[in-house]
Amino acid sequence: MSEPSSQPPTAQSIDELTRSAAAELNTLENLEAVDRWRVSYLGRRGSLTTVLRGLSSLNIEDRRTIGAAANQAKNTLEDQLERRIHRINEEALQRSASQDRLDVTLPGRPPGKGRLHPTTKIVREICNVFVAMGFGVVEGPEVEWDHYNFEMLNIPKGHPARDMWNTLWVDYEDPAGENAMLLRTHTSPMQARIMESREPPIRVVVPGKCYRYEATDATHEWHFYQVEGLAVGEGITFADLKGTLYEFARRMFGEERRIRFRCDYFPFVEPGVDMSIDCFACQGDGDGCRICRDSGWIEIMGAGMIHPKVLEGVGYDTDKYTGFAFGLGPERIAMLKYGIDDIRHFYANDLRFLRQF
Ligand code: FA5
Repeated sequence: MSEPSSQPPTAQSIDELTRSAAAELNTLENLEAVDRWRVSYLGRRGSLTTVLRGLSSLNIEDRRTIGAAANQAKNTLEDQLERRIHRINEEALQRSASQDRLDVTLPGRPPGKGRLHPTTKIVREICNVFVAMGFGVVEGPEVEWDHYNFEMLNIPKGHPARDMWNTLWVDYEDPAGENAMLLRTHTSPMQARIMESREPPIRVVVPGKCYRYEATDATHEWHFYQVEGLAVGEGITFADLKGTLYEFARRMFGEERRIRFRCDYFPFVEPGVDMSIDCFACQGDGDGCRICRDSGWIEIMGAGMIHPKVLEGVGYDTDKYTGFAFGLGPERIAMLKYGIDDIRHFYANDLRFLRQF
C-alpha cells in the first residue's frame, strides 16, 4: 500500500496513485482486506485524502486542474471499491451454492412414521369389543366437579369412602368457600352426567384419563386411563352384568378364559364386585407364575349393579329401571396382554418401549 507523499501533488502523481491503488484492489480476495485498502487510500488519513488536503498549498490555477484530477481519482476508486465488494460477495454466494448443491439423483430420505401409543391402541381395542356388543362411546371432562366425582355417586362430603380416591384438587373455591373442582379420580362421574342427559335404555362405554395423588410403583401411575361401562334399562340383572363382562373377557383374552367375581365395595354400586380372569400365562395353575403371583387369577376391573341412590339422584324411577356399571384400567390390561412388567413405561416417553407396539 502506498505511503502518503509530502510532495505537492501533480496530475501525474495522482494518476500513478490511482493506477497502483486500482491494481492492488483487484488482487484482494476478501472483505477484510478490501476494508483495509479503503482505509489506506480513502480513509481520513488515506493517501488520496492526503492529496486532496495538499491542494491548499497549490496556486489557484494548479488547484483547479489538479483538484479536478484528484476528485476524479476519488470517484474512480470509490466506484471500483463498490464493484470489488459486489464481486467478492457474488463469488462467496456461488461457492456456497455449489457446496450445498442438491443432488436430485440421490435416493430420498423417508419421513419418520408415527404410530399409535400402546394405551390408545388398547383403549380402542376395548371400546371396539363393547361397540360390537351394542355399546356407544362417550367422552367427558377431565377437570370435574366434586358434585359428579363424589356427591352424585353416593359419596357425600366426609364419607370415609372418599379416601379410596386420593384426589388432586384444583385451586378454586366455590361461593361457600369449598374446594369444588378436581381432576377426576375415575371415569365414574360420567355415569351421572350421561343419565342426567338422556333416558334409558343406555349402553355406553366412556374411555378417558384419570388422576390420583398417589405414589407410583410398577402397577400404579398418578395419571392413567379407565374405561367406564354403563347399562341402564328395564329388567337388567346381575346376570346381564356377568354375561357382558364374560363375553368381553373372552373376546379380549381368548375363547377359553374363565372369570371370577368376588364381593367388593364401591358406594355407587350394590352389590359391588371385582372381576378377575384366570391367568392366561399359567392357565389358572398359579404355581410359580410371575404374572398372577401364584394365585391363578388376575383382577381386571371393579363393577356392580348401580346403587338405587345414584338412580334416584338423576331422577330415574327405581321401580322401573336397574342397571350395571364397571370400570377397568386399560394400561393394566395391556400389561397383562403384552407382558409389560411396569406401568411407568407407558408415559416415560422412551421410544425403545413405544416402538414395540
Ligand atoms: C374405580 O375407580 C371405580 N370407579 C370402578 C367402578 C366403576 C366400580 C363402576 C364399580 C362400578 P378402582 O379404584 O378400583 O375403581 O379403579 C378401577 C381400575 O382402574 C383398577 O382396576 C385399575 O385397573 C385402574 N387403576 C386404579 N388406580 C390406578 C393407578 N394408580 N394406576 C393405574 N391404574 C389404576
